[in-house]
Amino acid sequence: MSNTFNPDTPNIDAPAIEPPTTDPPPHPFEVSFASRVHRLPPYMFGRINNSLYQKRRAGDDVIDLGMGNPSDPPDPVVIQKLADAAADPGNHGYSKSNGIANLRREVAGKYHRKYGVRLDPEHEVIACLGSKEGFSHMCLALMGPGDTAIIPSPYFPVHMYGVILASGNVVALDVADSEKFLSNVAYTCENMTPVPKVLIVNYPHNPSSAVIEPEFFVEVVRLAKKYGLMVIHDFAYADVAFDGYQPPSFLSAPGAKDVGVEFTTMSKGYNMAGWRVGFCAGNAEMIRGLGTIKGYYDYGMFQAIQIAAIVALRATEATVENQSLIYQGRRDALVSGLRRLGWNVTPPKAGMFVWAEVPEPWKSSMSTMDFAMKLLEEGNVAVSPGSGFGTAGEGYLRMSLVENEQRLRQAVRQIGKCLSQSKTPACT
Ligand SMILES: Cc1ncc(COP(=O)(O)O)c(C=O)c1O
Repeated sequence: MSNTFNPDTPNIDAPAIEPPTTDPPPHPFEVSFASRVHRLPPYMFGRINNSLYQKRRAGDDVIDLGMGNPSDPPDPVVIQKLADAAADPGNHGYSKSNGIANLRREVAGKYHRKYGVRLDPEHEVIACLGSKEGFSHMCLALMGPGDTAIIPSPYFPVHMYGVILASGNVVALDVADSEKFLSNVAYTCENMTPVPKVLIVNYPHNPSSAVIEPEFFVEVVRLAKKYGLMVIHDFAYADVAFDGYQPPSFLSAPGAKDVGVEFTTMSKGYNMAGWRVGFCAGNAEMIRGLGTIKGYYDYGMFQAIQIAAIVALRATEATVENQSLIYQGRRDALVSGLRRLGWNVTPPKAGMFVWAEVPEPWKSSMSTMDFAMKLLEEGNVAVSPGSGFGTAGEGYLRMSLVENEQRLRQAVRQIGKCLSQSKTPACT
């Protein structure tokens, strides 16, 4: 007799098993999130966004200075190139996860033209689905449990939560004074065990609009080499600057490529935020790490977008410069209006935001979140409360320059009216 196993032949030596007469009690179904999700706080702008949505549904004309979401379109040649490339049947398959070679070459070309930095497009440049995607996956490539990153404070949320989601820890250092920031970095590295692994910097800074001069990055490279820090510079506002100020690239500091990378984006200066085009350039090994993670997670950007992005980088420099002038005019309209109301505001030299101190007596009598809600509910102006960028932002509002000058002047009038009609709170 064959001893081949036959699943249809019962084993005659085994005791018979009675079939259950009742179903076992159901195992209670539960969606249980990973612990990393529990490390995320409630979304700070949820209250503002809900109220904004309800107001707009009710037909109110709210002036929205909340998000840094550009409202102007990209240059028409870029839109035309996208349409042409989308009409080509060859552009609809999966593209390259790290970006097509011509796009990476164009990025290297811009770095050379604008900053005098030479990059190998094959190993020192990678395209990302927006710089935020690249940044968060870079955190995943570099950080894990027990690793610490130094970040600026107040912070753009992904600088904090990109690290947290990668299971790392953060030390947040005050960004307002760049010299003090650097000496705090050195102090932290001298006194913390283990020494932090990553230094995250972001100039022009969101939300505070703080800027630096090129010497800052020379010192960053020196500290990075001394303490073994890997540097990530988020250079999202590289192309939006005023009054002749030129934001410096981290990569133009001697030795920068030995220790770090820089993220740039087409979201801001090029008005292509919805297109999701960003880049990471610099240290080849860090870029290889990011490329490895991305290779598992995504198939790259729609190729037609990559082709249109090449045209944007190559042929629309004048449009990008003009967009900065538009933001500069808006900055002037908003800053002078707020100053007329008696607010203490410093005009930013770059970026898309005015970081305004909440005036007294409001600052001492209510939270920044409540003040922002008041401006929205009573003044029909939406702003971002500084507390959404960490406790260091308490007492400040971030107002973005995405509405035109006329609307910004109207926003100032509405804010002035709302506050003058309110009962002045007693200072606490
Ligand atoms: C500092 C900073 N980094 C990154 C981003 C995200 O840019 P992207 O659209 O390229 O993901 C923003 C957008 O607001 C930003 O302000």
